[in-house]
Amino acid sequence: MLDRWCDYVRSEWGDPIGEAAAYSLASPGKRLRPALLIATYQELGGKGDPSELAAAVEVVHTYSLVHDDLPCMDNDDLRRGRATTHRQFDVATATEAAFRLIPLSARVLSAGAKRLGLDPHAAGVIAGELFRGAGSCGMVGGQVLDLEAEGRDVSPDELERIHLAKTGALITASVVMGALAAGAGAETVAAVRGYGREIGLAFQIVDDILDATATSSQLGKTVGKDARQHKATYASVLGIDDAARQADQHVERAIDHLASAGVNCGLLATLARFVTQRRN
Ligand code: IPE
Ligand code: IPE
Ligand code: MG
Ligand code: MG
Ligand code: MG
Repeated sequence: MLDRWCDYVRSEWGDPIGEAAAYSLASPGKRLRPALLIATYQELGGKGDPSELAAAVEVVHTYSLVHDDLPCMDNDDLRRGRATTHRQFDVATATEAAFRLIPLSARVLSAGAKRLGLDPHAAGVIAGELFRGAGSCGMVGGQVLDLEAEGRDVSPDELERIHLAKTGALITASVVMGALAAGAGAETVAAVRGYGREIGLAFQIVDDILDATATSSQLGKTVGKDARQHKATYASVLGIDDAARQADQHVERAIDHLASAGVNCGLLATLARFVTQRRN
C-alpha cells in the first residue's frame, strides 16, 4: 500500500522532494505500527482491508524519523541500514519532504477509511486518534521534551513521560485506530489503549537499551549516540538490567489489559513480546 503512495509522491512532487519522500517511505523498517493496527483490527473481528489505514500511521512515523535524524535534532547519518534522508539528499530537501508527509498522511487516512467503508463520524474519531498521538501532547511534544532533557538529570517519572509521549503515543494510536475501525465498544477500546501505552513505553525502553548494547550493522542505525549526546534514556537512568526488567513488566501489563477485558490476544501478545525480544 505504501508503494502506491511512493509512486504518487514521485509523480506529483517531482525531484528531489518526491524522490526524498519516496526514499524515506520505501526504506525497510519493521512496520511495527501498521502490524499493530492490522492485528488489533483482525483480533477484534474486523473483516475489511485495514492496510491503507495502517499505511497512514507509517507515513506519520516516517516523517517523525526523517526529522528526528536532522542535524538540529539527533544528527544521525544512518537509518534502516541506509543513509538518512538529509544525508542522501540535503537538509532542506529532507525537512520539506518530511513536512509534506504530514498532510499526505491525512489523505492516506481518508483513503483508508473509504476502503473500509467507515462512516464519516467513525473516520473523524480515528483521524483524531492519529493526529492527537502525533501532536503536541504526543510525538511532537515528546520530541521537544527529549531535546530539552539532553545533558541534564531527569527523574524516572519525567523519563516515563517523555517516552510515553515521543514513542508511546503513536503506538497507542495505532492499536486504538485498529480497535475503532473494527467497531469495538468503549471498554474494549480502553483496554487496547492500556495495552498500547504499555508496549509503547516498553518499545522505547528497548530502543534505549539497544542503542547502548547492539551493533550498528544489527540495528541499521548508529549506536552509542544516546550516551554521546547525553540523552535521557532508561539505560542511563536505570542501567541496562533494570531497564530490561521494566520493559518486561510493561509487556506483561499490556497483555493483562487485554486479558482483563476478555480480548482474544494471541497475535497481540506475540507482538507485545516481540517488542522486548527484538534485536533491531
Ligand atoms: C524508531 O522506531 C524510532 C522510535 C520510536 C524508537 P522503529 O524502531 O519502529 O523504526 P523502524 O520503523 O523499524 O525503522
Ligand atoms: C525517536 O526516539 C522517537 C521518535 C519519535 C522518532 P529516538 O531518537 O531514540 O529514535 P532512534 O533511536 O533515532 O530511532
Ligand atoms: Mg530522538
Ligand atoms: Mg534518534
Ligand atoms: Mg533511540
